[in-house]
Amino acid sequence: MAAASASPYDVIIIGAGAAGLMCAATAGYRGRRVLVLDHANKPGKKILMSGGGRCNFTNLNSTPANFLSDNPAYCISALKRYTPQDFLELVDRHGIEHEEKAAGQLFCKDSAKDILNMLLTECEWAGAEVRLKTSVEQISETNSGYHLHTGSGGLTCESLVIATGGLSIPTMGATGFGYEVARQFGLELLPTRAGLVPFTLQPELKEQLGPLSGVSCQVDVRCHEQHFREPMLITHRGLSGPAMLQISSFWEPGDSLAINLLPACRIIEDLLSLRKTRPQWTIGQYLAQHLPKRFAQAFTELQGWRGPLQGYKRSDLERAANTLGQWSIKPAGTEGYRTAEVTLGGVNTRQLSSKTMAVLEKPNLYFIGEVVDVTGHLGGHNFQWAWASAAAAGNDA
Ligand code: FDA
Repeated sequence: MAAASASPYDVIIIGAGAAGLMCAATAGYRGRRVLVLDHANKPGKKILMSGGGRCNFTNLNSTPANFLSDNPAYCISALKRYTPQDFLELVDRHGIEHEEKAAGQLFCKDSAKDILNMLLTECEWAGAEVRLKTSVEQISETNSGYHLHTGSGGLTCESLVIATGGLSIPTMGATGFGYEVARQFGLELLPTRAGLVPFTLQPELKEQLGPLSGVSCQVDVRCHEQHFREPMLITHRGLSGPAMLQISSFWEPGDSLAINLLPACRIIEDLLSLRKTRPQWTIGQYLAQHLPKRFAQAFTELQGWRGPLQGYKRSDLERAANTLGQWSIKPAGTEGYRTAEVTLGGVNTRQLSSKTMAVLEKPNLYFIGEVVDVTGHLGGHNFQWAWASAAAAGNDA
């Protein structure tokens, strides 16, 4: 064990992102002397880029069912004790204007900067210090806590909180630092992979869909018993949009996706009835009633559907309906951490307290936010986990 050197801090938090800043303010208000360290030149970079620059800061309908984890019960306690309503009250106290976009998804009306400024103001009011451009080179245990060897000297603290996030968007400062600390202290890591990430396509399909880049439509996409009914966006690289980002967290290499292109329609009934009432119509004309025209046309060509409906046998229409209701594609992969919103997996929560987020065998070492194996669906759930896990640790550290 290293010798303890004088340090004015009770709590050191590594990572000045969503979870780290929230935790700092919470612990600071309890009278703890708090320091937040970050290697980046600015705090909360992901907050600033989130929600298209307007930060989808919570989801009023967030429940534990909106999270993926190898230990699904772990998140329940923290989410119950710090709710979306609690965060909303904080946002309202700071006079930040917000709006509900899709059901329950709250965004800033003006800019994500409002949320970051709110957190920094809270840290200031709580007396928590934020120090940037500081990398932690080594961590060792002392008799009374931890000693940190940083680029600008040694620091000690009683409680150490790891809030360094996941691996997504390395250009924004993401590192595997939190996983290294977990490994150093003997914690198990669950395999990590990119989540909430666009799909790339096999060259042939990519070429066929290429001209449709920018086209979006409502679909119901299914993989591994999970499904999401949300918009899909065709991009010049592959498939994106909320539906694809959501299902990407459940997809594994080699899996196919089943995409219902007309989730609001009773496709076979529609086609059979149109064959009677409008026998001269084509399948393409039917599709154009429900899908963007460019997409309807390209998809019809892709499937080789030609001629009027009256020329189709019932079995042909059933096959077409099946293709439209369960268009099966096998993505080549995902865009990976370069563009992923989150990292799945991470520190195994079975070794952490669900009440405090502390390591069960080291009650003054905490892991919060994205570094742990709790990953939310798209729509404000990931920030809600950052706030809730940070509040749990901040009330204990
Ligand atoms: P976060 O990544 O926020 O913070 C980690 C901090 O640790 C960073 O400041 C980093 O610099 C620092 N750090 C890393 N390594 C370090 C080291 N070695 N030494 C010191 N510091 C280190 N979620 C949501 O709910 N609603 C949304 O609208 C969006 N939108 C969105 C858009 C995009 C483009 C992305 C990439 C992500 C989102 N998310 C989101 C997800 C959300 O941003 C994410 O879940 C939280 O920021 C996680 O908070 P953390 O504090 O755990 O990590």
